This record gives sequence, C-alpha cells and structure tokens, in this order.
Amino acid sequence: PRAHITLDSKAVIAPVRRRTFGSFVEHLGRCVYTGLYEPGHPSANDEGFRMDVVELVRELGSTTVRYPGGNFVSGFRWEDSVGPREKRPVRRDLAWHSLESNQVGLDEFARWLRLTGSELMLAVNVATRGILPALDLLEYANHPSGTALSDLRIANGTPEPHNVRMWCLGNEMDGPWQTGFMTADDYGKIAARTAAAMKAADKDLELVVCGSSGSGMPTFGDWERTVLEHTYDHVDYISCHAYYQEHDGDLGSFLASALDMDYFIDTVVATADHVGHKKRSDKKINISFDEWNVWYLNEHQGFAAVQDEWRHAPRQLEDQYTVADAVVVGNLLMTLLRRSDRVTSASLAQLVNVIAPIMTEPGGPAWRQTTFYPFSLTSRLASGEVIRPVIDSPAYTTARHGEASVVDAVATVDEDRAAVFLVNRDLAEAAQVTIDVRGIAPSRVAEAVTLADSDPYAKNTLEDQNRVTPAANKSATLADGLLTIELPPTSWTAIALR
Ligand code: AHR
Repeated sequence: PRAHITLDSKAVIAPVRRRTFGSFVEHLGRCVYTGLYEPGHPSANDEGFRMDVVELVRELGSTTVRYPGGNFVSGFRWEDSVGPREKRPVRRDLAWHSLESNQVGLDEFARWLRLTGSELMLAVNVATRGILPALDLLEYANHPSGTALSDLRIANGTPEPHNVRMWCLGNEMDGPWQTGFMTADDYGKIAARTAAAMKAADKDLELVVCGSSGSGMPTFGDWERTVLEHTYDHVDYISCHAYYQEHDGDLGSFLASALDMDYFIDTVVATADHVGHKKRSDKKINISFDEWNVWYLNEHQGFAAVQDEWRHAPRQLEDQYTVADAVVVGNLLMTLLRRSDRVTSASLAQLVNVIAPIMTEPGGPAWRQTTFYPFSLTSRLASGEVIRPVIDSPAYTTARHGEASVVDAVATVDEDRAAVFLVNRDLAEAAQVTIDVRGIAPSRVAEAVTLADSDPYAKNTLEDQNRVTPAANKSATLADGLLTIELPPTSWTAIALR
C-alpha cells in the first residue's frame, strides 16, 4: 500500500499535554511488592525501592501516576498505610483476593515518585467510605501544618505537603465487580457531595468523576449523562477506561482498536457537552483517560487461581506483550494525542508487572516489554503542539470496527523540532509513505525508528529480554519538502525532525 500525508504547522489541535503520558500504580499483584518495592533486592535503595525499576520508569517518560487503585481503592482505608510500618495492619483486599501488608503507603509512594520525577494523582474511596475520610486524606496529604492530620504527616516523617492536584472520586463505580458499585444516580449524588466538600477545602483541586469502565458497558452514555447532571459544577474531568485485545485470531480488527477509542472519546465529549449546554454552563468537562492498554482479560485475569487462598503479592495480570500489542499501544497513544483538545490527562494501566510496560523478577532483573518502546519514544519526542495530519491511505474492512485506514499518523510541532508517529496496520505488506512536510519546514531527519518483527507475536520475556527492540528506519529520506519512508507490516514508527 501507498499513503500520502500532508502536515501543516497551522493545523493545530491543542498543546501536547504532559499528563497524556501518565501511568498507574495499583496495589494489585506484584505492581508494588516485588515490582517497584523489594527490600533486599541488589538494586534497592535504603527505603527498599528497586532503583533498576526507577531507571526504567524514568526512561519510559511517564508523567502523572494514578494511585493506589483501581478496584483496590474501593476497599481501602488510607489510614492503614501511613505511620510506623510495624504498626500497619494486614488487610484482605477483596478486589484482587489478596493480602495487603500496607508496607508501602502514601508517604513512601510519594517519595518513590520523586525518584522518578512524576506527579501523584490520588483516588479516594467513595464506594465503601464517605466524605469525611476523603477530607481527612486531603488534609493529611495537602495541608501544610498546624492541623491534626497535617501534623500527623509531619510526625510520620513528611514535613512538606504532597500538594496533590488531581483526585479521582472512586473507580469504575458502574462495574458490578466493584466493591460497593452503584447506580449512576446514587454515585452522581455521592460524587457531587464529596467533590463539593473537597473543593470547599481547596477550590483549585482537579477532580475526576467516574465515567464508564468501558464503551461496551450496558449503561454507557446514560451513565455519563446522569453522573454529570449531578456533578457538572463540581468536577473537572470525567474518566474513560478502555482495554483492547485480539479476539479469535482477528489481528486486523485488533490493530484498528484506536477507532473504538476515538468513538469512545467522541461519545463522552458529546454527552458532557450536552449536559453542559442544558445547564447553560460555560465550563467544559475534559476527559481523564485514566486506564487504557492492551489486556488479555479472558486469559490472564487469574481470579480462578486465587479464589481459595489469600496470598501477598501473587502473580496476577502479568500479560506478556507482543509486537502487535505494541503497535496497538502506540496507535492508542497517537489517538490520545490527536484528541488533546479534550483528553487532557491519561494513564497507561499499569506501570510495573501488572499489564505493564516494565517487568521484574523477585531478586532478579527488570526489563522492557514491547509496549514500553512506543510509549517511551512518544513521551520523549512529542512536544509543542499536536497538529492534524491530512492522511490519504487505502482502507481495509474490519469485523469489529468497520473501515480502518491502513496507515494512521499524528504529528507534533515545536519551535525547533517536530515529530511524526505512524502505524502500518497491513499484516503482510510494507507501506510506502510520502509525507509532505513543507508546511512544517524541517531541515533534516534527526531520528527515525520502527518497532516491527517478522513475527508479530514476538515478545520480550525473562529468558529473552531484548528479543524485540526498535531499530533505526534507514529508509527515511527528506528531499524538497517530501519525506519518504517505508513502514514494515504491523509496525509502529516515530520520526524526529529538526
Ligand atoms: O487495571 C486493572 C483494573 O482494571 C483496575 O483495577 C480496574 O479499575 C479496571 O477494571
């Protein structure tokens, strides 16, 4: 296939939002314990944090990190996780049927975030707790000093407030699997009251109300409308969550998953704006796409294996990602960038071991999954403003998402640099792409890298950690304002221009 793309620096969609490159750490499986925290590991610092993981998180370039859940938060008492470690209780986590030792809590996690240079985004438990515990957590986390809970934080060894800006009002409250799930009406009322109380303490907080946990939920659309009718004046974001996987060997549909994400965003934006118009409000509610990834839900959920036993940090959701998965992840991130007008925060779910770009072995190495690369390269190269490319590409028909273009792309432009991100969804053939870059006037190709493999199911494993890595794409040439490049079948590519 041949595709032609035209770039124009004036076709600005929105600024590149650094929070688009957020991630997610849940107390689930081995994300925290033996993931980012493992006292006694050869790379552990004084506090027990694995510095090999810290290095990889820095390289990944994730920005905001959502914490501590996820489904976990709906059974969580935040007070368990602060203060002297030897006094912290072990609790049962019903969400993942495991034991929580609380050895890592808010203060430790905030210190870990500083090692990685990331921003903390906290979720409060509105499912099984109430307004007061949420306010208490806010006081503990953000009040400078001179109150019971801020002084408790100081006594616990954290003199400076954490100053958390983004707060999630619960998690996936529409899901019957959620401890304390609710109807949209019940949740909307509780979320509005919690949000109003939190903003009474600090009017500049950025609050995220729960949207649907997937566009396939039976209540999708109605949920958003009802919840926003209650909360519109009190919140700033509505969340979207989406996980994709290949079904029944239909790789063509899977590679077009970004179309579903686009449809999801369109619907939520339309619904939010509908509620806003009805309220005659000038305010716009943006999207926090705070869970997105590839997840082989059916295969790896692992509930069956842990039903009868309460274990600490069991292996759960440890998906091993393929080249095709990385192409989809890269394409989903392109979609999030392209929708930066309304998606102003996002979190790849998750960060370490649990459906994650980074894997670890207890006492052993940490390594990059295939999906690490498109995320890390996009985070490093995207800057300035997102521009809308005009894409002329052949299309193919998918069973799940209708017509999909073979080549998809997005671009960003900054003062002295630009970047183009591309996928070729063709399973068998390379795509010959010509990009008219006269509208952004670069002088040279600084870097062109492609993630591809003769086997789209190739992965990185403990035994073979570098089976899949991006390679320089030597076909990229720039002459007379035209950039030409060949994209291998089932591939993701980044081009940096100067
Ligand atoms: O990311 C894994 C789980 O997926 C989260 O805990 C939950 O919010 C979602 O269902």
